[in-house]
Amino acid sequence: MSQRKILVTSALPYANGPLHMGHLVEYIQTDIWVRFQKLFGNQCTYVCADDAHGTAISLHAEKQGITPEESVALINKERVRDFSEFHVEFDNYHSTHSDENRELSEAIYLALKEKGHIASRNIVQAYDPEKEMFLADRYIKGDCPKCGTPDQYGDNCEACGATYSPADLKNARSAISGATPVEKESEHFFFKLSDFDAFLKEWTRSGTISDEIANKLAEWLDAGLQDWDISRDAPYFGFEIPGEPGKYFYVWLDAPIGYMAAFKNLCDRRDDLNFDDYWKKDSDCEVHHFIGKDIVNFHCLFWPAMLHGTDYRTPTSVSVHGYLTVNGEKMSKSRGTFITARTYLDHLDPEYLRYYYAAKLSNRIDDLDLNTDDFIQRVNSDLVGKVVNIASRNAGFIKKRFGGKLSANNLIPELTADFQKAGDKIATLYEGREFGKAMREIMALADKANAWIDEVKPWVVAKEEGKDQELHNICTAGINLFRLLMIYLKPVLPAMAVKAEAFLNVEPLVWADSQSLLLDHEVNKFKPLMTRVEADKVGNMIEASKEVLAKMAEQKPADTTSSNEWLEKEPVAEEIKFDDFAKVDLRIAKIVNAEHVEGAGKLLRLTLDIGEAETRNIFAGIKSAYAPEALIGKHTVMVANLAPRKMKFGVSEGMVLAAGPGGKELWILEPHEGAQPGMRVM
Ligand code: MSP
Ligand code: ZN
Repeated sequence: MSQRKILVTSALPYANGPLHMGHLVEYIQTDIWVRFQKLFGNQCTYVCADDAHGTAISLHAEKQGITPEESVALINKERVRDFSEFHVEFDNYHSTHSDENRELSEAIYLALKEKGHIASRNIVQAYDPEKEMFLADRYIKGDCPKCGTPDQYGDNCEACGATYSPADLKNARSAISGATPVEKESEHFFFKLSDFDAFLKEWTRSGTISDEIANKLAEWLDAGLQDWDISRDAPYFGFEIPGEPGKYFYVWLDAPIGYMAAFKNLCDRRDDLNFDDYWKKDSDCEVHHFIGKDIVNFHCLFWPAMLHGTDYRTPTSVSVHGYLTVNGEKMSKSRGTFITARTYLDHLDPEYLRYYYAAKLSNRIDDLDLNTDDFIQRVNSDLVGKVVNIASRNAGFIKKRFGGKLSANNLIPELTADFQKAGDKIATLYEGREFGKAMREIMALADKANAWIDEVKPWVVAKEEGKDQELHNICTAGINLFRLLMIYLKPVLPAMAVKAEAFLNVEPLVWADSQSLLLDHEVNKFKPLMTRVEADKVGNMIEASKEVLAKMAEQKPADTTSSNEWLEKEPVAEEIKFDDFAKVDLRIAKIVNAEHVEGAGKLLRLTLDIGEAETRNIFAGIKSAYAPEALIGKHTVMVANLAPRKMKFGVSEGMVLAAGPGGKELWILEPHEGAQPGMRVM
């Protein structure tokens, strides 16, 4: 069989926040596939990059008072570490903000333009007159046109569920500056996707993508393809469009080209890789993209059209996975299930997660659930209880009784042959991204191995006179079965495989090694390969996630369940005049009642006595730090003249003051005794 040449990519993560458990579904899935290909003997190259451009990234940087380049660099440092600790091993990790990407993006754009696939026309958009920038829908907030709830984003209301266009919002304002948006016209450039209608209808049915995805895309294709707006006006963090000063490529134009750029950057350093071999039309190398279901249209419509339109090859496959849920629900900050890669690594072994995801993954786009109880149970029972157990039940005797040397005989030729034959089936499952099925196949073998050991009972044989040879053969067979399982698990558990190789005293295992056995060979001392998952560590990780995320600056809205419930942006302290300060009516209040609010993750409802028989109802985001009972009777400080705010759960008539990084570490301000309800604070 000839060696395949395979280039593999994962979607390029946006450089505006930390990696989380959801991202890891993708990077772990891709890494397992790549490791399998390499182990199998193919020439496989895995590249990725930071997706560095766009408004979300420049705003994230601005909030920290640094340039986008600096912010991207900071995030890059963290994520490169996260990836490597999860054993996600790229051959190159580049950036879309790179010379290679600029050159390729310009060239591709110019080639499309040359061929008449670029159009331009003026469009009218919301514009922030203060920031002097155009506003995408998600940067416009206002009151819901239907129910009046304030602070709703661009196109739908979190309170009543109405959907609308941002132009319908009442009291619309820029989520960036607070200014009232105005309408403004400007010239935009469009990629004429409809030029590729026939090509895409065929391409989407060419076996490159699953039928499941092709059927979804057919809805778009049948409705007729729209031109795609590929330009943005300055200020924009990205590449300026050649010949169009002040106009920039929309981030999604240069992002997929980033795959090519990352590969190009690698080719420039590697003699054995040639860019054109992989990307020329009719290339006999393979290109595989792994992505999440939210970005299918970019990868299965725009991207193949761009490549086809510029005479590059199109991808061999686009593999699409579903979204991660945690304990059956969308990841949530308040429930502590929005777990960053770093928080996970602080508490648990990365290979637990690699195995768990592998066990749950298929080649379909169903969402997959990280259920914390199932996670503990599955890892402990499969990896520790089944696989590691086979080695530990036999290794001790080999060391103590036989000087570490395996016997020269294979006691169970049939069972070992079964294990070896299973290799083909498992390889096919890995190749087809049916990792869950592959793991079940491997665990069924582990069950067989354990059942055989239970039957022959080496621990009994060890006590019997004159059965040395039998014991030696049994333990040798047990260790060989373990070795075969380890080969099959190596794409998923690379670190455990390294430990197993050290114990077995062998060179790094490859797939073909499954066809041989280890006989008459000296092994090393056995050290524990993996410890059990402890339930309290999982609990601690969830608790820590609540704290980490209370501190984190706001994510892109799509990342959170109810982003505007409480976690407001960090206030930026700008200098104010004394008169401004004097306008704030700060008052001592007594908390006469505090209670939970049904359905609100972070809020408590407080009833405050502010003197002169006046009470106020307010919602305070301090649930993570206080039980309601602990608050009743306390005195605190409130802003009494804050305009009432209609929230999802009722009207909030003011605000209590609290300090702290968030989560459990949040304290309401408490005045010394003597301060009575109603007194002004100055
Ligand atoms: N920057 C774009 C991709 C550009 S590719 C040319 C992007 N970045 S992302 O950071 O938002 O997402 C990166 C990948 O992680 C995407 O494939 C996305 O589908 C995946 N996931 C992000 N959150 C996820 C879950 N909660 N669950 C599973 N995958 C998720 O999109
Ligand atoms: Zn509404």
